[in-house]
Amino acid sequence: MEMFRSTFADISLDALASNWLEIKKVADDDRFICPMVKANAYGHGDVQTALALEKVGVDTLGVCLIEEGLLLRSSGVKSEILVFRGFDKRGAEKILEYQMTPVVSTWEQVQALEAVADETVKVHLKFNTGMNRIGFNADQAEKLSAYFKKSKKLKLKALLTHFAQSEDAVSTEGFSAQQTKLFLEIMTAFSSHDLYFHLLNSGGIASLAEIKKQKLANHFLSIKKWGFRPGLSLYGYQPAPQFNDMKLKPVMTLKSVVNNIRTVQPGETVSYGCTWRATVPSKIAVVPIGYADGLHRLISNKGQALFAGKLAPIVGRICMDFLMLDVTGIVTDDDLAKWNDEEVIFFGFDLKNNFISAEIQAEKSNTIVWETLTSVGERVPRHYKGLAQYDRGLKIS
Ligand SMILES: Cc1ncc(COP(=O)(O)O)c(C=O)c1O
Repeated sequence: MEMFRSTFADISLDALASNWLEIKKVADDDRFICPMVKANAYGHGDVQTALALEKVGVDTLGVCLIEEGLLLRSSGVKSEILVFRGFDKRGAEKILEYQMTPVVSTWEQVQALEAVADETVKVHLKFNTGMNRIGFNADQAEKLSAYFKKSKKLKLKALLTHFAQSEDAVSTEGFSAQQTKLFLEIMTAFSSHDLYFHLLNSGGIASLAEIKKQKLANHFLSIKKWGFRPGLSLYGYQPAPQFNDMKLKPVMTLKSVVNNIRTVQPGETVSYGCTWRATVPSKIAVVPIGYADGLHRLISNKGQALFAGKLAPIVGRICMDFLMLDVTGIVTDDDLAKWNDEEVIFFGFDLKNNFISAEIQAEKSNTIVWETLTSVGERVPRHYKGLAQYDRGLKIS
C-alpha cells in the first residue's frame, strides 16, 4: 500500500539478530530455544521478524494463535512453529495441515489430535505449576505419561511450564523456585520418555545469566538444560531493572515528525478537555500520532518525547490522530516553520543516537513494556532495516 504519513516504527533487524546472539550466549550450548513471535512479534511484525530470525539460524518459533502460524507458513517461514494457545478439532486439522506443532493443555485437545491425525504428530505438553492460566495440573502427570506411552499417533517430545513471576528466579525461595520444584516432580512421571523441557522466558533467561555469573552451584535454573522461550528480551528489553548484564538493543523506534508549531499565550489551553493551560508564552508542536497509533491516552500530560535531542513533555490530552508537545525552551527562535518535519521519537533512537526507552512510556501509562510495544497500531507502517548483510548462521559481534 502507498503510504503518505510520516509516522513510522523503524525496526532494526540487526538489533534483533544481536539480541538473539546475546540470548544464545546465555544458552551456551545446543539447548532448545523457541523465540516468541506471537502478537505480531510483540508489535514488530511477525513475518519479517520470523524471516530475519531464520536468517540467523533460528529453527523454532512460538505463536499464540493458529492464525498467526498460518500467516507465517503462507509467508514462507520454514521453522518448526509451536502453537501455544490451544485448539478444537477444526484447529487441530489446520495445525497438522500446516505442519505446526501443538502445545497441548487439555484432554480435549489430546482427543482432537487423535481424531484428526493420520500420521505421527509431535506434541509438547503444558503443565500448570502456579500460573493457573492454561496447562494440565500435576495430578494428571502419571495418566498422561501412560497415555502417551501407548498412543500410536501422538509422539510426546517436550514438557513445558510458564513462570508467573520470573523476576524472582535468581532467588531459591521465590515463586519461580516453587514452580520449578513442582515441574521437577511432574517430570519424574515421564522418566521413561525421551523428552526435553522448556520454561525460561526472558526473566528466566536473565536470571540464568545472573546465576552463571555468580557461579551459583546446584541452582534450580542450572540443574537441567531448561529450554528457552524468549519474548521481550529478543526485542531489546528486560522484564526488570536488576537484569542488566545482557547487552540487549531495543529493536523498535517509534517516531513521527512535527506537523507545525504554534505559539500559545498564557491562559490558553491545549487539546480536548482543556486539561493543560499555558502559564507563559509557549511553543506547542503538533505531532500526527495519537492513541489510534498506540500511544495510550493515559500518558496525556505525563509522557515525553525526544525532540531535537531533548525530552519534551506531552501536553494536553492525546487525541486519536495527534498529540501536542511543549517545546518551549527547545524552540527559541520565531522561525517556527523551519521545525516542520523535525523528527520526534516516542521510544527508541534518534538520528544522533539519543535514546528514549519504551519503559518510560510504559511506566507513565501505568503498564508494562510488553503492552507498550504490542500496542503500536496497525496503521503505523513498520520500516525494516539491516540484516541484509547477514547470512544464515553468520556470527554478529
Ligand atoms: C508461554 C509463554 N512463553 C514465553 C513467553 C515470553 O515471555 P517474555 O516476553 O517475558 O520473555 C510468553 C509471553 O507471554 C508466554 O506466554
